[in-house]
Amino acid sequence: MAKTKTAFFCSHCGAQSPKWIGKCPSCGEWNTYVEEVIQRQEKQNIPKRGATPTLITDIELSAENRIDTHNQELNRVLGGGLVPGSVVLVGGEPGIGKSTLMLQVALTIRNLKVLYVSGEESEQQIRMRAERLGMGKNECYILTETSTSDILAHISNLNPGIVIIDSIQTLSSENIDASAGSISQIRETASELQRFAKTVNVPVFLIGHITKEGTLAGPKLLEHMVDTVLQFEGDRNYGYRILRSVKNRFGSTSELGIYEMQSDGLREVSNPSEILITQHEEQISGSAIAATIEGLRPMLIETQALVSTAAYGTPQRSCTGFDTRRLNMLLAVLEKRSGFKLGIKDVFLNIAGGLRVDDPATDLAVVSAVLSSNVDMPISSKTCFAAEVGLSGEIRPVTRIEQRVSEAEKLGFEIIVISKLNWKAAKSASKNIKIEAVSRIEEVFSLLFA
Ligand code: TYD
Ligand code: MG
Repeated sequence: MAKTKTAFFCSHCGAQSPKWIGKCPSCGEWNTYVEEVIQRQEKQNIPKRGATPTLITDIELSAENRIDTHNQELNRVLGGGLVPGSVVLVGGEPGIGKSTLMLQVALTIRNLKVLYVSGEESEQQIRMRAERLGMGKNECYILTETSTSDILAHISNLNPGIVIIDSIQTLSSENIDASAGSISQIRETASELQRFAKTVNVPVFLIGHITKEGTLAGPKLLEHMVDTVLQFEGDRNYGYRILRSVKNRFGSTSELGIYEMQSDGLREVSNPSEILITQHEEQISGSAIAATIEGLRPMLIETQALVSTAAYGTPQRSCTGFDTRRLNMLLAVLEKRSGFKLGIKDVFLNIAGGLRVDDPATDLAVVSAVLSSNVDMPISSKTCFAAEVGLSGEIRPVTRIEQRVSEAEKLGFEIIVISKLNWKAAKSASKNIKIEAVSRIEEVFSLLFA
């Protein structure tokens, strides 16, 4: 019998080494090397694609042949539909709803044979879930199998138009002698599926788990191998789920898809502002609404701040859904430029709905929410904000102001506070909404609380 060959792999980046090392020379992480069996058999039955150099103008364009998944939010995140032959990795924490989302897609997609391969649940369990989601009228096949050679054999018999694998960590390939879920197995099974997708031009969804550190379990390498990486996230305490594209070879990565988890599956939220703005009966202090843009879509979201006297010497700053360093910077600007003594106060900031925002246009709403909580005076719920705040306390213009103004107007806001430098463009987009253009933070204060 041949001697078992082993090697060490970095569980962070997938680099290989013949012996154990403490620090990965490739990604610099410590203590990530694990031993794995790598005895490879000779590869058979994997179709090789004989590539020849082709003139770029001779290559057929297939960009417009995207598959409509009949799930508008998913289409949006994928950049306008599913590209044939692409491999899409859907990552997320356990229980967030990855299997639900994919099964729902499998049931609603039309005119395509779907093969849903599950290594985690039994056929009965999947059927029960499908009953809950509402059965579609299309051809959806379920296969409970974990060996890639068997899966590929079933695929070539069935000829599906789309394959869903739940999950990549449960698969194993006979070409490699390591346990399922290990780095070398993930790499091997993913590359077999990728080769399959590219050869027959069938899209493959791979579901992947996320480790407790928040990275996709298995090597980062998996992210490099696939065409698109989608992250499914959300707060357990809210029913909302956000599908975010982290990498996309066929579209933008700034798109968001928003869903609400209900008892009969995930509902698409096509008008996110409806859920991101909490409806108050009376006006409360510490809340301000920002007109942001995520991807191509304008959204009005609520920022909530609580400013209170610090109980200990060092004031606390805590954020949910917003960058803490950015909050600290904004507080320093308030302190330095406008004389608001926030240095002895605790500041808590929360973006409503469990969303995470990066749009710099949120700055002014954050600053206003903090000021409002500090003086304990509410801001009218018919006012929203769209501007960046600079280090010297100046109110800076933001991109695509016209879209923000029209979205705010559409949702019934009466006033939008923006930078003076955005005034002209904003004016052209507004009909009934009142535009307040400001150039310094002090002006905002007197505008809101004078
Ligand atoms: P699941 O798709 O199994 O998560 P994952 O595959 O990411 O581990 O989601 C399971 C959760 O979703 C579970 O906590 C129950 C909830 N759920 C609903 O609220 N409504 C539904 O219709 C379904 C199918 C699941
Ligand atoms: Mg699952």
